[in-house]
Amino acid sequence: MDKILVVLIFFASNLLANDVITQRQDSMQNFNKLMREATQLLKSGEVQSLNDIYGEIEIIMNEYPNLFPDESFKGKTKASSDIIDNRDAFNQIASETEQWASLAKIAAKNNDIEQVQQHHQSLFSSCKSCHSRFRN
Ligand code: HEC
Repeated sequence: MDKILVVLIFFASNLLANDVITQRQDSMQNFNKLMREATQLLKSGEVQSLNDIYGEIEIIMNEYPNLFPDESFKGKTKASSDIIDNRDAFNQIASETEQWASLAKIAAKNNDIEQVQQHHQSLFSSCKSCHSRFRN
């Protein structure tokens, strides 16, 4: 009986870990898609409709660091296990990215194209800072 329980718990925790991996990969796909939409809107000068997009990015980055529990670095993930030992640095990049999204949102509300473009660039540079350090 005990053995069965141990095996069941093992499978259940594996399933949960896989689930969180899928969730964070979906978040990234979504982030990528939102950035492409924002780039298009910026090109066509529709700055005000960017509010919602940057708002969604803000939410994604706010939740993102919660999707990396210690047991979620095996299997179909490309996340580096360095995250486990460097949570502060990882959370810092996520938090900066969230702040850029927030600033871009405010600039879009103010119809300040130059500022939006600057923060949009900062958002793009965040991909590389995080991936080069924390993605295999
Ligand atoms: C705070 C860190 C961080 C930031 C910022 C970040 N990424 Fe990622 N990204 C990751 C990690 C970690 C993975 C690997 C996740 C995994 O496989 O478990 C990843 C994976 C991805 C993937 C692959 C998703 C999949 O289906 O496997 C894409 C696409 C992606 N990122 C796009 C972007 C883009 C575009 C940006 C910037 C606009 C960005 N990311 C910013 C950490 C980040």
